[in-house]
Amino acid sequence: EAAPLEERYKDSFNIGAAIEPHQLEGISGEVLKRHYNSIVAENVMKPINIQPEEGKFNFEEADKIVKFARENDMDLRFHTLIWHSQVPDWFFLDKEGNKMVDETDPKKREKNKKLLLKRVETHVKTIVKRYKDDVDSWDVVNEVIDDYAPNGKGLRESPWYQITGTDYIKVAFETADRFVGKDAKLYINDYNTEVEVKRDHLYNLVKDLLDQGVPIDGVGHQAHIQLGWPSLQQMEDSFNKFASLGLDNQVTELDVSLYGWPPRPAYPTYDAIPESEFDRQAERYDQIFELYERLGDKISSVTFWGIADNHTWLDDRAREFNNGVGKDAPFVFDINYNTKPAYWSIMD
Ligand code: G3I
Repeated sequence: EAAPLEERYKDSFNIGAAIEPHQLEGISGEVLKRHYNSIVAENVMKPINIQPEEGKFNFEEADKIVKFARENDMDLRFHTLIWHSQVPDWFFLDKEGNKMVDETDPKKREKNKKLLLKRVETHVKTIVKRYKDDVDSWDVVNEVIDDYAPNGKGLRESPWYQITGTDYIKVAFETADRFVGKDAKLYINDYNTEVEVKRDHLYNLVKDLLDQGVPIDGVGHQAHIQLGWPSLQQMEDSFNKFASLGLDNQVTELDVSLYGWPPRPAYPTYDAIPESEFDRQAERYDQIFELYERLGDKISSVTFWGIADNHTWLDDRAREFNNGVGKDAPFVFDINYNTKPAYWSIMD
């Protein structure tokens, strides 16, 4: 039987996987217990699932994941308290049901801002109090940077931002900090953190918040990467840059797509993927884990955005860009949970 991934890296960082509750059972559950020492919810802890209606919290699915982590002595990441996607509309409607972003009257805008910040506080507080003894790492905000934002600072102009400026970020971190367990860490999570423009926007924001005393412990790097992009140097520079602020780094959503962006052309089925692609992928995995291990004191956890090739969000992308046909294969276990060349390359 294949040796546990987590054991191979236990001196450097945690090895995690993103999961849906149904994956806790059966073979995926067994693979999880054997190879990983950290888990995160792929979807069920996002705002739309946790508080679909104001004041109506739904913890049922999230609780299953928390219980599994507890029973199997695994670390738990929480993804995500605040995000612009998978968030219900009610957050951004005023008491009369009007869209707060459309408000032009300065007095009413001020009132709306207060209302939304109160909602942020309630959302964060309710969740953090419930899970404070279980969660080790919190994604407090996700994807607040947008390279193309018209403000030129890369601040994503989501409704959160349009209504509160960057105060929603501050309030989210400050509220979380008031209630989290004493060893828990608070992260700002984003994708493409290796790309210089985006990295620097994120750096400037984080530095500014830290200067204001906002309690940020680390940066989550999603790492949805490809066979040839980004470069190892870009990855290394980004980890170092945030470490220079005294922050921890976590790799939070790792997958290595076989495809470029958009993912065209894609192989139509798993069987159609030639072995040579898996070998290239193994080489890539080998290089990035060598980098992670070398920077081990700056990286506390490496989480894959899934377990095995039978379940990956990348299939949706491959299909979307390929007229409904396309299969990706981003992990180190294949569609039957067997080890791929990438598994052996990172165990070496
Ligand atoms: O639950 C419904 C189901 O009832 C319905 O039949 C089905 C029909 O499409 O949709 C199901 O919901 C889907 C959900 O995943 C659960 O499978 C949503 O349509 C789908 O949009 C959603 O996608 C998730 C995506 O975030 C949402 O933006 C992916 O699974 C999830 O992997 C992805 O994760 C994000 C991270 O949170 C943040 N970073 C990027 C990453 C990849 O996009």
